[in-house]
Amino acid sequence: MNSSRTGLRRAALAVLSAALVATAAGTAQAHPGKVGPGKGHHHGKGHPKPAASLRDLADRRHVLIGTAVDTTALAEDGAYRAATAREFSSVTAENVMKWEVVEPERGRYDWSAADELVRFARAHGQQVRGHTLLWHNQLPAWLTEGVADGSIDAKELRKILREHITAEVKHFKGKIYQWDVVNEVFEEDGSLRDSIWLQQLGPSYIADAFRWAHRADPGAKLFMNDYNVEGVNAKSTAYYELAKKLRAQGVPVQGMGVQAHLDIQYGFPTDLAANLARFDRLGLRTAITEADVRMFTPSDPAKLARQASDYRGLLAACLATKGCTSFTVWGFTDKYSWVPGTFEGEGEANILDADFRHKPAYEALREELAKRH
Ligand code: XIL
Repeated sequence: MNSSRTGLRRAALAVLSAALVATAAGTAQAHPGKVGPGKGHHHGKGHPKPAASLRDLADRRHVLIGTAVDTTALAEDGAYRAATAREFSSVTAENVMKWEVVEPERGRYDWSAADELVRFARAHGQQVRGHTLLWHNQLPAWLTEGVADGSIDAKELRKILREHITAEVKHFKGKIYQWDVVNEVFEEDGSLRDSIWLQQLGPSYIADAFRWAHRADPGAKLFMNDYNVEGVNAKSTAYYELAKKLRAQGVPVQGMGVQAHLDIQYGFPTDLAANLARFDRLGLRTAITEADVRMFTPSDPAKLARQASDYRGLLAACLATKGCTSFTVWGFTDKYSWVPGTFEGEGEANILDADFRHKPAYEALREELAKRH
């Protein structure tokens, strides 16, 4: 793990220097949130010192702080764009690297939206997490329909998967530091999900996916990724056992991604750090990949305090784990979030409110990152 930390440190330094350039280029003055304790105080020759952003603080902890990016908002909303640039050192495409977007018709690739995001990241000194190569959701209709009507048989499907993974990873070669290669492949009881991949190809599709991805970009770190794997439970244990087995076979599985879509109506997974630690001991990197903490709306101060405490707990567990090299939130403002559209009656799951004001959760992340350790 030492070498991974050293590698990250180097990457973090590169990010830091690029961030300074981005800040100098004017992203900081566009910061839409409140400025914090430094506001109004003049330092040195009369310039107010902006409060440190999440990424400034994360750089000092040698961890990447990321967000999922809604590329429509990025194109249309200046406040969203400024906050994305200012606060984060890593970005994940919320949707535009998914199969249905990048290959809407068989053999016709459309990388335009994803390329735009990669360009944005580069301009602001940010790293890019790749999400996701293989999933059971957001597949193109030509693929699901072809499997359903029998026009795509198992042999053909395996070839299609190989070509998809190879084309996508090659397209972004050298630009992605971590790929979610397989997403949500287990059920809650630890059995493999009954997806078209398992039905058609059998369990070996997982090892294949990692091998194909590694061949296409040996420099990217390859992850499994799922929800409800924060604590030690049947599902996370299935991942642990799978990782152990695949690594023993020489399959290039290098990381475990914990999505961390939490809800304040449930208890916080207090064994998260212990869970991350066991993957760490296997020699895997770990990452919090999609953190958000939802609640039934409207919020109140007690709910927001509980939300802040959950965000803090997620980040603290990551910071306590040597190989946990990135912490990503699934969107950062309540203005754009998948939660209200997915969980009835729930929302306000992010760290900034819909007007980009800092919520207690934002301050909690800042405090946690600023702690001396
Ligand atoms: C979600 C996006 O946020 C939505 O915009 C989209 O409609 C559906 O997918 N787990 C994942 C993510 O791995 O890709 C999902 O993202 C959220 C759950």
